[in-house]
Amino acid sequence: MQADIITTSLLDKNQTLSIQKPDSGLSLVGRIRVPGDKSISHRALMLGAIARGETTIEGLLLGEDPRSTAKCFSLLGAKVSELNAERVTVTGVGIGELEEPVEVLDAGNSGTTMRLMLGILASHPGRFYAVTGDSSLRSRPMSRVIKPLQQMGAQIWGRKSNSLAPLGILGQQLKPIHYHSPIASAQVKSCILLAGLMASGETTVTEPALSRDHSERMLRAFGARLSVDPETCSVTVTGPTQLQGQNVIVPGDISSAAFWLVAGAIVPGSELVVENVGVNPTRTGILEALEMMGADIELQNQREAAGEPVADILVRSSGQLRGCTIAGDLIPRLIDEIPILAVAAIFASGTTIIRDAAELRVKESDRLAVTAAELNRMGAQISELPDGLEITGGTPLTGADVDSYTDHRIAMSLAIAALNATGITNIHRAEAAAISYPDFTATLQQVCHPN
Ligand code: S3P
Repeated sequence: MQADIITTSLLDKNQTLSIQKPDSGLSLVGRIRVPGDKSISHRALMLGAIARGETTIEGLLLGEDPRSTAKCFSLLGAKVSELNAERVTVTGVGIGELEEPVEVLDAGNSGTTMRLMLGILASHPGRFYAVTGDSSLRSRPMSRVIKPLQQMGAQIWGRKSNSLAPLGILGQQLKPIHYHSPIASAQVKSCILLAGLMASGETTVTEPALSRDHSERMLRAFGARLSVDPETCSVTVTGPTQLQGQNVIVPGDISSAAFWLVAGAIVPGSELVVENVGVNPTRTGILEALEMMGADIELQNQREAAGEPVADILVRSSGQLRGCTIAGDLIPRLIDEIPILAVAAIFASGTTIIRDAAELRVKESDRLAVTAAELNRMGAQISELPDGLEITGGTPLTGADVDSYTDHRIAMSLAIAALNATGITNIHRAEAAAISYPDFTATLQQVCHPN
């Protein structure tokens, strides 16, 4: 509808998203829903595939990443119905019963698909699997899961001393371990727990800080014997165990809602309600960070859906945000929201410091480098730190040509920044947003109103 504010153009397969704020200004108003949570969508497909019987999934994310998971597990022998957001059915094969496909398993852009799947495949004795991904995923570190899996007895080969995909896996009867992970990573934790389902005895993962706990919640619901010690950030699964198919309801993704929360907070005159958002406490660091910055955010209609807390989130523009420091145990609870938090910090008074976030260098892109470089093209003052960012707030933004580096969260963060810039911003390779948020541009057009 707001064709003059937001336009898209396509050259080959590359989409350019152009955003121009009208002279009269714009505001964001409406009630919206965001697509299903990416982490929960992956887990529902995977647990459904290895459980006995039928799993139904309501609200599955139809982004590229869960599509990669669905495709891999279909090749491995699970029956996955046509993907839609209403109801997907997965008929599982039972623990240890995945087939050995003749095809290479392609995880696409998805680190979660590759890392969690490795734990499952490594524990299928005598079967050989070949796994790859796109050029971004083939450069992301896999040794963080391969090393602990090797301690359990896994045999995995890959490029660069078995650390990079493409990978070959010869499944083994694994033994349980107690793994002290050097990083707070739900992908590492989940990979080892999934491998532990087939190992006989107690497999424990201890993390330096608590990462998202969707695997723990869902494994329990599917019947795994699992215990959690929050004091030591440890989880133990006892194998071997069988899982039983369940009905999963996927809440909206707080990582996708984050774009609207920041947009609502920084664009004057905005009022948005994002309905049905997952507010699992291991994911709500973004709400705490925005509240620290003085944003006006309210949780409404708090409830629970299939073992996950859910709420509607109201955000209203609140005048001047304040810079703050984001570090320590808060980081794993907002790890995917740092690019969009950097956008909020540009419009805050004072300096915002983000530390302890070196993990961002090995995401879909080097998110510290790319966030700083691309937002600085628009006039932001962001310096890279080895493990974070320093953002000097209060510098006005001017439209520019910027690039997503094929990273979905960078594409969407740049679009939100453009709403508060003068002139035209052209975001190149904006199609990356479809990894986690296929309808992002449509929702942007729906909520943007010229003043
Ligand atoms: C995810 C865990 C996080 C997160 C990613 C999804 C998951 O990665 O950044 O987007 O679903 O387990 P790490 O485990 O590498 O921190």
